[in-house]
Amino acid sequence: MFLDNLHLENFKNYSRCSLTFNQKLNFIFGENGNGKTNILEAISMLCYTKSFLLNSDADCVNYAENSFLAAGEFCNASGSRNKIKLSYDRLENSKSLLYGSEKVTRMNDFIGQFPLIVLSPQDLKLTNGTPQDRRRNFDLLISQISKVYLDDLRNFNKVIKQKNSLLRDNLFNGRYSKHELISLLEPWNEELADFGLKILLRRLDFIEEFKVYLHKCFSEIVGNRYVPVITYHSDVFVDGEAASKDVFSLKEEFANKLKDKLELEIKRGISLLGPHRDNYIFEMEKDGRLFDIKTFASQGEHKTFVVSLKLSEFGYMKENLSHSNTGDPILLLDDVFSELDKSRINKISSMITQYNQVFLTTTDHDYIKILRNDFSDITSFQISNGSAVLVH
Ligand SMILES: Nc1ncnc2c1ncn2[C@@H]1O[C@H](COP(=O)(O)OP(=O)(O)OP(=O)(O)O)[C@@H](O)[C@H]1O
Ligand SMILES: [Mg+2]
Repeated sequence: MFLDNLHLENFKNYSRCSLTFNQKLNFIFGENGNGKTNILEAISMLCYTKSFLLNSDADCVNYAENSFLAAGEFCNASGSRNKIKLSYDRLENSKSLLYGSEKVTRMNDFIGQFPLIVLSPQDLKLTNGTPQDRRRNFDLLISQISKVYLDDLRNFNKVIKQKNSLLRDNLFNGRYSKHELISLLEPWNEELADFGLKILLRRLDFIEEFKVYLHKCFSEIVGNRYVPVITYHSDVFVDGEAASKDVFSLKEEFANKLKDKLELEIKRGISLLGPHRDNYIFEMEKDGRLFDIKTFASQGEHKTFVVSLKLSEFGYMKENLSHSNTGDPILLLDDVFSELDKSRINKISSMITQYNQVFLTTTDHDYIKILRNDFSDITSFQISNGSAVLVH
């Protein structure tokens, strides 16, 4: 699947803009603050129904206007075309998504139809940021290949919301006796263990499978001096103890651990155990020594890790979607080359030739020379002040 064209109206600093894309590489260049990332953001809206930067819909409407339109046409290998039209009206706070001529009523059902991987400077949060940043990243990845996971996640989040509001309400308003509160929490904990276990097991499976892609990608970019290590940390089941047991006993164990936490949860007014508190840990083995990336990695090492992580996501997703009719994901690379040395840039350039459609932004037009070593046909756009000009 590739994005053939994009049309924007009053989207951020674009009042009107129509672009036709290359099936392989689209090189988007221009000076700071002119609208390169905005184009990628619009593409992400068509695939995810929301901005990869987590901007609100209202933030994407041009300052001087009240609504935006982002429309695009995806084509697959057999030539069939899918039109997507997303519009948002700030005054009515209403959003509409058309898939062909069909109105999409549940945005979540749409996720995964047009798979997308984004790598942007914001992703440095993956190594530097909070556990939530990492969970969100991998949740989006797994959700795009598994509707079941997305549904479990949605249900789980509803349960956590209800449980937390009960705990908080009790903490601030002292509304219930302890006995009453425990019996009110019981059904939520049952559901929490049910959906929570499914999510946890899926994430553990994911990590096992994903590791292989990460190792391979990392060694392609930097050689064997470094080995990336990714592990999943959970207080529910520690150090692989989930692997050896059946689902029934795991659920029972999870439910018991939730009971043990109850006293503390009531005291603190918040739910403390479950996959919403888990973490993905990133480490690197360098010259035989293991170190925590967050604390010890250099800026370039952070970036190399994040780039490898995202390119591995591409490989993982491609493999997992190989039997679906969605085709390979599209890759958005926002300002990916800055801070990387020449050899790493060369490697990345040659790696992405095997990918599906790529959109790459940069302030430095010279990078096109490196890319030309690997790509025979590049479409390049010069962006200035909310307009995009095709450059030959
Ligand atoms: N709702 C909006 N309406 C109009 N302009 C906006 C809106 N939101 C953001 N902008 C402007 O869009 C401009 C371009 O932003 P964008 O992030 O795409 O730049 P860029 O070309 O990627 O720059 P850089 O190289 O610094 O990353 C910014 O100057 C920003 O102020
Ligand atoms: Mg930018």
